Amino acid sequence: MQDREVVKQLEYIEKVKKLNIEKNLKYHIVTMGCQLNENDSEKMAGMLERMGYTATNNYKEANLLLYNTCCVRENAEEKLFGKIGEVKRLKEEKGTILVITGCMMQEAHIVEKIKKSYPFIDIILGTHTLHKLPEDLYNILNTKKKIRDILNIDGKVHEGLPIKRNNNKKASVTIMYGCNNFCTYCIVPYVRGRERSRKASDILLEIIELAKNGYKEVTLLGQNVNSYMRSENEREGYDYKNTEMNITKEDVMNIDNEKDKIDEEVKTFAKLLRAVEMIDGIEIIRFVSPHPKDFTDDVIEAIRDSKKVNRILHLPLQSGSTEILREMNRRYTKEQYLELVDKIKAEIPDVLFSTDIIVGFPGESEQDFQDTLDVVRKVNYEQVFMFIYSIREGTKAALIEDQVPDEIKHERFNRLKNLVESQFEENNKKYIGKIEKVLIEGYSKNNDKALTARTDSNKVIIIEADNSMIGKVVDVKIISEHKWYLKGVIV
Ligand code: SAH
Ligand code: SF4
Ligand code: F3S
Repeated sequence: MQDREVVKQLEYIEKVKKLNIEKNLKYHIVTMGCQLNENDSEKMAGMLERMGYTATNNYKEANLLLYNTCCVRENAEEKLFGKIGEVKRLKEEKGTILVITGCMMQEAHIVEKIKKSYPFIDIILGTHTLHKLPEDLYNILNTKKKIRDILNIDGKVHEGLPIKRNNNKKASVTIMYGCNNFCTYCIVPYVRGRERSRKASDILLEIIELAKNGYKEVTLLGQNVNSYMRSENEREGYDYKNTEMNITKEDVMNIDNEKDKIDEEVKTFAKLLRAVEMIDGIEIIRFVSPHPKDFTDDVIEAIRDSKKVNRILHLPLQSGSTEILREMNRRYTKEQYLELVDKIKAEIPDVLFSTDIIVGFPGESEQDFQDTLDVVRKVNYEQVFMFIYSIREGTKAALIEDQVPDEIKHERFNRLKNLVESQFEENNKKYIGKIEKVLIEGYSKNNDKALTARTDSNKVIIIEADNSMIGKVVDVKIISEHKWYLKGVIV
């Protein structure tokens, strides 16, 4: 069925295009935050290009300047307001159209502040109204009346709008929006709404198109990818014991005729992984972020059976203390997390892990922190994204009185960092002699005679090879270790 809202926006795209004809207009997008925001920016870039704008790297040159914001941690606000203050002159001098969107625009106090202190912003778009950029832009071009387009109910999933991707070999594909988990420290569920999954046929169709256009690598995106379709399934009483996959590669490659069958069948994350595996041309599949509580056996088996899913799994720990995990509403204990790691290692022997950790959650004692260090030692992650706890107004944890003093937070952060760095050096040594299947990404930043790639675990490999290899997936043997990168040769 044609999505009426999309049809309407496609019409607005044509109208704006007419207004912009032969004006040689430019746009610049600043993206903050996570890969979901990056993917949203790609969608907005796609719409802007269809409306006659071309990209520029120089924001001062842009006729339309768009900020896609994040509010997951504190410092983002100052950063944004600093930037807006700075571009006010641009607005005055050349009438640059200023658009702000993203997660921060779902926070009422931020929108209030913009209305009061930065009234010259042309368009404020919430996370549920992104697709309305063409309509809002058309209106601002015609009436100059400022637009505040924010919805506090969950946006629908819209398909069929354009996209302009940042890379021509690897692509991100959002598979679900929103989050239902309400980890007590986290603002995301408040600014992104409840979980809504895209239909499998729409996701697969997008990836088949990517493969046809030469893409080799896809990253499936969502705040909680392994609860893909869970809300929809719960409403329909889906039987999770049904893990058998009743579609074939022929069905997937013949998707135009098999949409209903595919949507009927591919209703779990494990099945989605198996279906993406069937797409010829796609050689590497990644996904972020899964939640440990939803890392069910069918997902482990789908990864085990896959030749394409990368062998580093991002498994956000947040804390190693069972008590803090309970306060965080993570719904697993330290022991359950470690058991899950062991179970995955048993099924997938060459697996590696990366993680996210928050230091200094309210009430975190030295013993709690020691538990975090203990898990880090045991799992021996390839990569750890470390964050100092940051109070987010409106979340449950913000109300806890027992906040950890700043010096202690920083001191713990440094201790964790030291441990991670020492493991990192040790881990690098283990790569020497190994053969990795990698995508050659391009020239090295520091040496234009060398090319770069990344291991599954996201470590940079420098390879001396001919530039005709760029964009190819090849086997590379690691020959030496240099702390921040590895060296390899094509075999
Ligand atoms: N949905 C993903 C990640 C969301 S945000 C997941 O659950 O893994 C990315 C990371 O930011 C989180 O994993 C967490 O480690 C960190 N984070 C979120 N809220 C935070 C806060 N209030 N303070 C510090 N770090 C936070
Ligand atoms: Fe935030 Fe937790 Fe949802 Fe991740 S799973 S987005 S940390 S509430
Ligand atoms: Fe930030 Fe929104 Fe992503 S708050 S981390 S950009 S979902």
